[in-house]
Amino acid sequence: MPEQRKVHNILVTGGAGFIGSAFIRYLLSPQVNFTGTCVNVDALTYAGNLENLASIAQDPRYIFEHGDIRQQALIEHLCQEHVIDTLIHFAAESHVDRSIVSPQAFIETNVMGTFHLLEVVRKNPHIHFHHVSTDEVYGSLGEFGYFTEHTPYQPNSPYSASKAASDHLVRAYHHTYGLSTCLSNCSNNYGPYHFPEKLIPVMILNCFERKPLPIYGQGHNVRDWLHVEDHARALYLLLKEGCRGETYNVGGGAEWRNIDLVHEIVRTIAELQAIPIGELQSLITFVKDRPGHDLRYAIDYSKIRRELGWQPARTFSEGLKQTVLWYMQNPEWIKNVQSGAYRQWVEFNYANRS
Ligand SMILES: NC(=O)c1ccc[n+]([C@@H]2O[C@H](COP(=O)([O-])OP(=O)(O)OC[C@H]3O[C@@H](n4cnc5c(N)ncnc54)[C@H](O)[C@@H]3O)[C@@H](O)[C@H]2O)c1
Repeated sequence: MPEQRKVHNILVTGGAGFIGSAFIRYLLSPQVNFTGTCVNVDALTYAGNLENLASIAQDPRYIFEHGDIRQQALIEHLCQEHVIDTLIHFAAESHVDRSIVSPQAFIETNVMGTFHLLEVVRKNPHIHFHHVSTDEVYGSLGEFGYFTEHTPYQPNSPYSASKAASDHLVRAYHHTYGLSTCLSNCSNNYGPYHFPEKLIPVMILNCFERKPLPIYGQGHNVRDWLHVEDHARALYLLLKEGCRGETYNVGGGAEWRNIDLVHEIVRTIAELQAIPIGELQSLITFVKDRPGHDLRYAIDYSKIRRELGWQPARTFSEGLKQTVLWYMQNPEWIKNVQSGAYRQWVEFNYANRS
């Protein structure tokens, strides 16, 4: 039976990132009748961008706090000051390629950071804790089959191993201390405000600038794609109705081989910009594969569909078109990300602190 949890005051970690900011925009949108306070604590690493939240920054229900999830005393203080009853945890190092080059930050934030948050909840057990995780913890699939909530963990990159470790901590804190926790493992997200180091925004922006479109190996790796706003909706539903101690897989039902995905992006942009498709197709280049590149991820999300009635609201082609249009209509956001100007606010305000 789904729970019926009241969500009053929420602490969001990593809310200036791609998915966290989509969640906050959704929470404070008219679609959700949210009457509490939403506190966003974010360390504003290179991936944190407060411009993602410009549309809600003046909302009286919203508070931003610059801080690191490993600062246990700060997190506890925020929970008490704002009478937090719900904590949703997005903050992470999230880029697989970076985890291969420098894994340490992944262990520190994803594992230790989650540990510190759980310790805060252990001292304040009335707080419900939702952990946002990834399908990458399950490892790689062959040509057939799907990840279910019972698939054994087999993470293959330092990123997915650090997320797997954090998932295990969440599970253990529920089991050992009886904390009210819930966990979701989601497939690849895409949509507006996606930082241009990940596949889809890299391809879109490179098409705009007529730069090469680099594809690892032969482009046969398969990913399942979910629009970030559909993910945000799933997460809010899970906060209210997700059963404590449970895991839910969240997916888009949209499997694409990377090579086919890039062709679809090219086709969408050529159509929207009315340019010859060949001009963009000729930019496709194959580059050396990354080490340990998982072949295929595909997710069975029948549990959340059956138990909570959630499913993606848009098809992949609708979502991709909306995403490309968003990048076309937001050159200022792109310019600030590419030039690093979005970091100036952080540097100006925080250079001499901590
Ligand atoms: N992007 C995806 O496709 C995807 C899919 C499934 C799950 N996830 C998970 O969802 C979560 C959010 O992913 P995302 O793509 O939005 O990531 P992101 O990299 O865009 O954002 C991460 C945010 O966390 C903040 N942060 C990093 N370290 C911090 C620290 N020590 N203290 C406080 N804040 C810190 C960053 O400043 C940034 O705002 C992650 O936990 C990720 O593992 C992502």
